[in-house]
Amino acid sequence: MLQIKTLGIYDSGLGGFSIYHELKTTFPDLDMVLFADQLNAPYGNKSKEEIQTIAFEAMFRFQQAGIDSVLIACNTVSAVALDFLRESFPDMNLWGIIDITVSQVPIGASVGIVATQATVDSGAYQKVLQSSFTIQKALVDLVGLIENLEDIDTIKQYLVNDDVYNQDYLILGCTHYPLVSDVFETVSRAIILDSRLPIRQFVEKLYLPGEGKTSVFTSGEPAHLTNQIKSLFNYDEEVLEWNSLF
Ligand code: DGL
Repeated sequence: MLQIKTLGIYDSGLGGFSIYHELKTTFPDLDMVLFADQLNAPYGNKSKEEIQTIAFEAMFRFQQAGIDSVLIACNTVSAVALDFLRESFPDMNLWGIIDITVSQVPIGASVGIVATQATVDSGAYQKVLQSSFTIQKALVDLVGLIENLEDIDTIKQYLVNDDVYNQDYLILGCTHYPLVSDVFETVSRAIILDSRLPIRQFVEKLYLPGEGKTSVFTSGEPAHLTNQIKSLFNYDEEVLEWNSLF
């Protein structure tokens, strides 16, 4: 049976950190490397080809560093590039976040999905939720608002009233969005689902206990990510330059 020694986590930014933080808190003996590609964020408004090129480069670096098990903690990459990455790196174990997230939805429930433009356009959630009534909405500016640490009122004004919030379930189909889940709770009467719980369950089954050696890398400015993490999580994290992974 496959066992993960060091888990790579990949996202465009803070969404990946929220998954990393969740796993680090739950499994203190899990070895992990997080890559936040903030230089290229946000991904969600880019074309499929651009996202595939950027994601290929990221996976290549993980592979070169000897990390062959990577959780794509980005819905956008999972939606438009997962098959391409699996074909490009057949020796790596790559998991997308969409299949993991939808495992929580009961058959037949009505589901609203909020996500980036690229994820919505791909129809990836609707493909795996075929037995449900689904409605989607792209929140094209929300990743930028979260990365810029905008205040709750600004984010609330951005989430204008919409049917997507009023189905049985609301899927936060972007790993940045749980960072403002309390704002979604004020505009939605649905049961809100995100990826954190099923990812914990998924990783628990597969990882080999290690020493809890973890590192966080960004392609952006390390001090900037350290400050964002301090503001959002009240957590002191040393962030390294992605180029220093080798
Ligand atoms: N966290 C990424 C996702 O889940 C955000 C994508 C972006 O950078 O726009 O889709």
